[in-house]
Amino acid sequence: MTIPPPLGLLAELTHRCPLRCPYCSNPLELARLAAELDTATWLRIFREAAELGVLQLHLSGGEPALRRDLPELIRGAAAAGLYTNLITSAVTLDAARVTALAEAGLDHVQISFQDADPSSADRIGGYAGGHAKKLIAAAAIRVAGLPLTLNAVVHRQNLERLPEMIELALALGARRMEVAHVQYYGWALANRDALLPTRAQLDAATATVDAARARLKGQLTIDYVVPDYHAARPKACMGGWARSVMVIAPSGRALPCHAAESLPGFDFPNARIQSLQDIWTNSEAFNRYRGTAWMTGPCAGCPNAEIDFGGCRCQAFALTGNASNTDPACALSPHHALLADALETATQPHFTYREPGRAPGG
Ligand code: SF4
Ligand code: FES
Repeated sequence: MTIPPPLGLLAELTHRCPLRCPYCSNPLELARLAAELDTATWLRIFREAAELGVLQLHLSGGEPALRRDLPELIRGAAAAGLYTNLITSAVTLDAARVTALAEAGLDHVQISFQDADPSSADRIGGYAGGHAKKLIAAAAIRVAGLPLTLNAVVHRQNLERLPEMIELALALGARRMEVAHVQYYGWALANRDALLPTRAQLDAATATVDAARARLKGQLTIDYVVPDYHAARPKACMGGWARSVMVIAPSGRALPCHAAESLPGFDFPNARIQSLQDIWTNSEAFNRYRGTAWMTGPCAGCPNAEIDFGGCRCQAFALTGNASNTDPACALSPHHALLADALETATQPHFTYREPGRAPGG
């Protein structure tokens, strides 16, 4: 069987980050600086990705701008023919740094915002003064002529200000906005009771997005997906396991999704010592949940199997203890009631912040 190449490579350059967001998707055990891949290895990985057929390189983290070699990495990726997208909190980006990245060949920047209200944004990100720094960086990005996407991570403690977040995207000159509901694994699962939106909040947000899409047609594109805990069918997580994206963790570990390290019983291959082509095509980890042949229970033979690919393996494991189960976000899952139960008990106002070397609750 020929396996189509991934369209995107998500390069997690580092797990280091000045922010401490309580919904971070990084693993609970964060990779230390000493374990990060060096410049030459990343550049070799980018060349291999382009040869494999990858078109888009997403430079992510942690905070990728903490890598001093970021301009060199972007230059190498551009030389390999990859479209480069920087996914950043932007709190370390000043005008000189933005200019250097643009001159290196950066194609696009995506900045995450925690809220439209500065004090709430700084509280959620666990970083005083962060919101103001993001505004300065966003202005520099527009001056440099780089296209900007505003990524608004929304949840119970900021959804009321979604209209203001849309206005912020417009004011900053973003052409695209992602209204991204929190996904519940890693730190977010530990903070689920503080983050899950109510049904009323969700309905108001959906109406806000619908109205803004109509009003801002041609001016601002808004991506929006209903969150799993209020849905009857799951999303095709990552577009399906090992179908269109490969993730490389800071240590070089190759993963089919950014949360895969939470799954037990895997021996993930490492791009330090194995080619991307070999990993993508032959590794057991990438083949385990590829396609639909692995499915059991309600997914097996389901007409949606080729549409949502059974949802999210990491969510299935986090909530049921078995990554091979149907994602409980699906109403056909025998575990679907777990989500409604979580919505009923979600009343916690305090966060457990992301910290290296500390598990939630520890
Ligand atoms: Fe998707 Fe499985 Fe639910 Fe069918 S049973 S809709 S394949 S998650
Ligand atoms: Fe791992 Fe969804 S995050 S499969």
